[in-house]
Amino acid sequence: MALEIRLSDVSVDYYPGTAWQTRALAGVNLLVGENEQIALLGPSGAGKSTLLRVMAGLLVPGRGQALVPEGGRVALALQEPQRGFFAATAWEEAAFGPENLALGAGAVEERVRWALSAVGLPEEKWAWPPFALSGGEQRRLALASVLSLRPRFLLLDEPVAGVDAQGKRDLSRILRELAQETGITLVITAHEADFVFPLTRRVLVLDRGRLAADTSWGRLGEDPGLLEKLGLELPAALRLLYRLAEKGAPVEPGQESLEGALEEFRKLLG
Ligand SMILES: Nc1ncnc2c1ncn2[C@@H]1O[C@H](COP(=O)(O)OP(=O)(O)OP(=O)(O)O)[C@@H](O)[C@H]1O
Ligand SMILES: [Mg+2]
Repeated sequence: MALEIRLSDVSVDYYPGTAWQTRALAGVNLLVGENEQIALLGPSGAGKSTLLRVMAGLLVPGRGQALVPEGGRVALALQEPQRGFFAATAWEEAAFGPENLALGAGAVEERVRWALSAVGLPEEKWAWPPFALSGGEQRRLALASVLSLRPRFLLLDEPVAGVDAQGKRDLSRILRELAQETGITLVITAHEADFVFPLTRRVLVLDRGRLAADTSWGRLGEDPGLLEKLGLELPAALRLLYRLAEKGAPVEPGQESLEGALEEFRKLLG
């Protein structure tokens, strides 16, 4: 049977019934299937992290229903993942998840090897203590430690906040290869669209806990007011195409992908 994450009329309040009660999600309906690549956009406090926690089955909504596949099929990579390290070596850190899935020792080893290789952590560092690794390597290890669960859904919360340009390129390549080779579903939160544009097709926009849009990159630009009022922007490539179209250039700005956008520039240059 196909796996899916299904949220029906989900609302979440933190500290319900107190003076601090905060509505983090309000009436969210969402269906996420296999082999999807999804960007989750929204300003700070919109509810992105809360939504990912519900989708991962870590937070039970106060109202509505969240149906989530079990048994390590949904993995959440946290905003500051390296804070959670506890094992003596990188290898043991990445082995913790599969060791708790009642697999044989051989299967655990194979998954850890695959996960550490997939994120490009150099093999000579697999026996190092996690905190002896560089910041970028620690982020890779944190990703490997959820990938070793071999999830079918990978939810990434702000994976490039505070990461340099090379780190962004590396992660982008890792995620693209992962999606192509394994058909894993990616859901990636971001304040800014440029990192997620080349990696995703579907776009969710959260506005104060409500799902304000469930759309595609091409259609997102049809309602410029939506992103603007949230202080968000289209990816730079699409913004430029819209500006060129405004000035009368023969381009079609509503492109669904970076490849499509680049093709428009190519045509324009002849
Ligand atoms: N653990 C918590 N306890 C109480 N309130 C919380 C908690 N986590 C989040 N909130 C509140 O819920 C709302 C949504 O927060 P959430 O962290 O989901 O937003 P976000 O879109 O991820 O923001 P950011 O972009 O800053 O990470 C905010 O009003 C926030 O203050
Ligand atoms: Mg957040």
